[in-house]
Amino acid sequence: MRVTVFGTGYVGLVQGTILAEVGHQVVCMDVDAEKIEALKQGIIPIYEPGLESLVKENTATGRLSFTTDAALAVAHGDIQFIAVGTPPDEDGSADLQYVLKVAETIAEHMEAHRILVDKSTVPVGTADRVRARVAEVLERRGRTELTFDVVSNPEFLKEGSAVADCQKPDRIIIGTADEHSVEVMRELYAPFGRQHEKIIVMDVKSAELTKYAANCMLATKISFMNEMANLAERLGADIEAVRQGIGSDPRIGYHFIYPGVGYGGSCFPKDVQALIHTADSIGFDSKVLKAVEARNAEQKTTLFAKICEHFGGELAGKTLALWGLSFKPNTDDMREAPSRVLMEALWAAGARVQAFDPEAMEETQRLYGDRDELALCGTKEAALKGADALVIVTEWQSFRAPDFDLIYKQLSQPTVFDGRNMYEPARMAKKGFTYYSVGRLPATPAPGSDP
Ligand code: UDX
Repeated sequence: MRVTVFGTGYVGLVQGTILAEVGHQVVCMDVDAEKIEALKQGIIPIYEPGLESLVKENTATGRLSFTTDAALAVAHGDIQFIAVGTPPDEDGSADLQYVLKVAETIAEHMEAHRILVDKSTVPVGTADRVRARVAEVLERRGRTELTFDVVSNPEFLKEGSAVADCQKPDRIIIGTADEHSVEVMRELYAPFGRQHEKIIVMDVKSAELTKYAANCMLATKISFMNEMANLAERLGADIEAVRQGIGSDPRIGYHFIYPGVGYGGSCFPKDVQALIHTADSIGFDSKVLKAVEARNAEQKTTLFAKICEHFGGELAGKTLALWGLSFKPNTDDMREAPSRVLMEALWAAGARVQAFDPEAMEETQRLYGDRDELALCGTKEAALKGADALVIVTEWQSFRAPDFDLIYKQLSQPTVFDGRNMYEPARMAKKGFTYYSVGRLPATPAPGSDP
């Protein structure tokens, strides 16, 4: 099938590449000429495991191509994906200007029936706005005989496993009332539903809300667990025991109940805010979502509070080694990353940071540039040198079993602040560390501990 994807960001590039991989003819269109030029040469603007080789392979076979030519892009695909950004406005609502601009572009150039597919995360009602915009342009062109449909087909990709998520989706949501569109979309996605039926067809507004409901539910689980962790700390309970205790109930499940330093990334913060905004705009007070967001904002400050308290409020002149900058492992994405909230608070209090991340060093450099209070270190060991304490913000695999003796020797005070509960408190105490984690009591060096 012939498919066009507008937007070569995260979602568009991954989806376009995977559709080419299963055999469709895919043209990816972007207004950013530099990006398109780079992609033609196999240079990928984001870090995503497995993506680069797939882009190269499919470009080589000719199934995947890149263009800035809108007329060509619209002429190519019977299906036109809209996968451009919907950044939050100042008030937290999703900014639809790019989505509507693509709708206009398609309407300007189309010469035959087109199915426009909203892949971007867009508020309920967007498909109607896209439909209205296309109709307006066709009217202006005097081409009202041209037919089209607008389908909502939200993505559920996770950064770091986007390729795998896209190849093996849990479900494929198709929102439209048009039978022809359903047929076409079923054919498009047929290669992905071989084992069992994954396609769920519904009306367009329900499809739009499904995406938000999914992300907001997951964010709610996290904020709920973070709240429990705060309670556990104050009550002298162990959140890790509680987590296992509740996760064993299949109605609750083990996924997404890990307490930590708050959720970040490009989706959860934005989508929770956007749904709050949608609710507000129709006069509905979404009490749960507001609490989810408030808990998350506060959770991002908890590591700093613990560090501050440990040092008796005296952080000026202190150096903290920081492991993990990206908002989660296996990505270089720093959007809404808890590490940023922490570093900025540490700097404001006069402390220095020596940071290491397996992937996000360049991005951190881009965001914070050369500043005296930040040293970007080439290895996790280098970040420890001369530091007063170690702070772990992101649970990268390579931090799971570090050389504790080395950490002990390098730090002026053998103290570890762990925002992801990576280690066992009793073991850390035995090794001679003062160990702070999330939802568990701080552990202090056991008498006669042997580092
Ligand atoms: C998320 C959704 O999972 C995905 O379905 C949607 O399409 C986009 O948003 P992503 O933002 O890539 O994906 O990351 P995800 O793995 O979901 O993690 C989000 C945040 O939650 C991270 O900051 C992570 O550290 C945090 N998290 C996750 C927790 O704090 N605890 C958990 O138990 C799980």
